[in-house]
Order: sequence, then C-alpha cells, then structure tokens
Amino acid sequence: MYAPPMIRLSGVRKAYHLRRSKFAQPEELVAVNDLSLDVGEGETLGLFGESRCGKSTAVSIMLGLLRPDVGDVEIPGQKIGAMPMGDRVKLVQPVFQNPNASLNPVKRIHSLVAQPLRLHGGENIANEVKHMLDLVGLPSRLADAYPAELSDGQRQRAVIARALILNSRVLICDEPTLALDVSVQAQVINLLLTLEKELGLTMVFVSHDLGELSNIWPIVSPLCI
Ligand SMILES: Nc1ncnc2c1ncn2[C@@H]1O[C@H](COP(=O)(O)OP(=O)(O)OP(=O)(O)O)[C@@H](O)[C@H]1O
Ligand SMILES: [Mg+2]
Repeated sequence: MYAPPMIRLSGVRKAYHLRRSKFAQPEELVAVNDLSLDVGEGETLGLFGESRCGKSTAVSIMLGLLRPDVGDVEIPGQKIGAMPMGDRVKLVQPVFQNPNASLNPVKRIHSLVAQPLRLHGGENIANEVKHMLDLVGLPSRLADAYPAELSDGQRQRAVIARALILNSRVLICDEPTLALDVSVQAQVINLLLTLEKELGLTMVFVSHDLGELSNIWPIVSPLCI
C-alpha cells in the first residue's frame, strides 16, 4: 500500500511585502520560491542555504506557523493548514537556534519541559518529564533549576526534551547548534542522531554550514532564490 511521505512540500512560495517609506509602493521580497521536497518516515533532510535565503521562512511554513502564498505542506498526507493546532503540535515540533530565547527564564526546567503536556493533555506528567530528561541526557537534579543555571548545551537539551514530550514524530530543527560552542555543537548533533534512531524520528535539519550537514545527513535541497 502507498504510504505518503512524512513531510511533503509542493511548489511552496512565500513573499513578504515591504514598504521603504510610508508613501512608497510595497515591494515584494520572495523568501521561498517554488520549494518542493519529500521526507520519508524515519529520514532526515538537511536543508542548506546561505544567510537570509529563506530557511527560517520555510521552517515556519513546515510548522504551520506561516501560510504559503502558493503550494501545500502535507504532514503526512494531511494539509497542515487545515489541521487543528492540537493535532499539529502532537505531530511536528520545532527546535530553534537560540535555547535562551526558547525557554522562559522564570520557569523551572521541569515546568518548561512539561508545558506541552499541560496544554495538550497528558497523564503522569512528572514521570514523563523524568523520562524525557533522561532521554536527552540531563541529570534529574537539574529539573528544579532555572534556565540560567544550565549551560547552553544543557538548555538546548531541555528544548529538545520539550519538543519530544508529546511523542511528536517530526522534528524541525532550525540551526539548533548556531548559538553553541563547537564542542557542544557536536554533542547536540550526536544527541539528535541518537534520538533519530531510537525514536524513529523524521527530521529536517537546517544549517548554513555545509560541512556540518554533509558529515551527517544527506543534503537534498538547497533553497530558494
Ligand atoms: N516577517 C518578515 N517580514 C519581512 N521580511 C522578512 C520577514 N521574515 C524574513 N524576512 C526576510 O525574508 C528573507 C528570508 O529570511 P529568513 O529568515 O527566512 O532567511 P534565513 O535563511 O533563515 O536567514 P538566516 O540565515 O539569517 O537565519 C530575508 O531577506 C528576511 O529579511
Ligand atoms: Mg534563519
């Protein structure tokens, strides 16, 4: 039987409309132009492109946070724009580049990791959080810490734990190592590689560093215009 790819983008285009001054006509800035790709279940796609070529715009479209002007996003086989938010977040989750900006500084780590379960329903929250911290390699003593008490790498691990706590099958990582030291970058990539295998995740991994991608995952499609 035919199984649709886990992620399918078909002819996606997105433009922003910018005014240089109050009275000027809006100018069109095409951020993503005719992007099509398929990612099969359990596969990872490396998405490479130079600065400002539209990578994060493509990520927002894949997460259903931005609507494309033209084209469709299907995850898997369902149009993401037509999915209720509750279903969408259980299926696809982001990991963004700056863990400091992703974590509310006044909440403790266990509360931040548990947040999706509290919002979208879940049982045994304390046990689930413990399991996720274990899975991403965070010592359980850090559950009561605030983000500022963690290193950058530990903060990104907490972000990954939160992204996976709803058992989402798709992870969209937008330059998740950009804000990290080189040694920590390798640790986070190794963690993602392990999780990909252990959980059978489907991932899109965005980077502007061809070396980072080519050492690990097949690069299928550079972007855009
Ligand atoms: N909300 C927005 N309004 C207007 N223009 C935008 C908006 N978001 C992005 N852009 C513009 O669209 C283009 C693509 O931006 P985007 O952030 O998608 O690229 P990127 O490849 O992720 O860049 P970077 O490598 O810096 O992360 C850029 O020229 C950017 O200035
Ligand atoms: Mg970006």
